[in-house]
Amino acid sequence: MCQTVKIQQLKAIFTLIRCFSLGKTLIVKNMFETYTSAQATMTDSTPPVGDPSFWADLPPVHKPPTVIVPIRSLGENHRSRIADHLKALDANDRYFRFGFAANDEQIDRYVDGLNFDRDEIFGVYNRHLKLIAMAHLAYAGDERRSECAEFGVSVLPHARGRGFGQRLFERAMMHARNHGVHLMFLHVLSENTAMLKIARHAGATVVRDGFESEAHLVLPPATLNTQMTEMLEEQLAQANYQVKIQAKQFRDMLQSMQIGWRAATSKPRDNDPPP
Ligand SMILES: CC(C)(COP(=O)(O)OP(=O)(O)OC[C@H]1O[C@@H](n2cnc3c(N)ncnc32)[C@H](O)[C@@H]1OP(=O)(O)O)[C@@H](O)C(=O)NCCC(=O)NCCS
Repeated sequence: MCQTVKIQQLKAIFTLIRCFSLGKTLIVKNMFETYTSAQATMTDSTPPVGDPSFWADLPPVHKPPTVIVPIRSLGENHRSRIADHLKALDANDRYFRFGFAANDEQIDRYVDGLNFDRDEIFGVYNRHLKLIAMAHLAYAGDERRSECAEFGVSVLPHARGRGFGQRLFERAMMHARNHGVHLMFLHVLSENTAMLKIARHAGATVVRDGFESEAHLVLPPATLNTQMTEMLEEQLAQANYQVKIQAKQFRDMLQSMQIGWRAATSKPRDNDPPP
């Protein structure tokens, strides 16, 4: 009798656990379905948060992104890696990036002056946790011009031509829209074909003035889609970064074990010099 009661109690507990896990699955499934249907229906043609007439004449979209790039927002603790990234650029790239061939001290000053609270800095890390691409979206310091932001980007030479520059620009555009920026601009040297292509693909107006060009892009207001997409992309990029950290730690541990193993198993040969 007592045993039957216990079995029934156990059955009840199992049923409860199954209901609970099924409930969780349904909640997650529901969240995912809500998100994907929102993605499908809320394209940029959904009424914006602000005035719809503001973006009646949207520039044509170049093409949908084909590359998924884990772009994450960088904070204070990435300062030294940002400096390393910029110092890895050669004189020509530094000239393109800053408008002059900045030396290492000038790069250090630029990096020290980065304001992570006001501006937004985005980065792409490779699996060795090297910052291979970064972008700086600088807001105008002046309160009255807080609706403008300037964009600057750099990709390490070996990582170019893979769409990182383009994706960073798109991410910065989305972030700027979500933060009420109406005008994004960038200073580009007229010979910088790649950067001008990126700007033109996004629909920017490029005004050439001799060696220099200025590109500006009027941004439509944020939509629920841009806000959700940015949030999701940031979460995925942060998760991707954590996985890379753990994978690197694991590789480093394996490597040190291999070194230790080789040292322990290698027998000194007769003709080896004495230690
Ligand atoms: C400009 C820069 C960021 C481009 O980065 P990237 O990751 O190579 O760019 P993408 O792969 O996204 O390519 C974007 C477009 O430029 C084109 N492109 C890339 N390199 C090019 C080159 N050397 N010449 C001509 N076009 C080029 C690509 O084909 C692509 O066009 P498409 O979409 O029509 O095919 C990179 O070259 C760089 O860091 N340069 C030095 C710093 C700099 O110039 N910064 C910009 C100042 S704001």
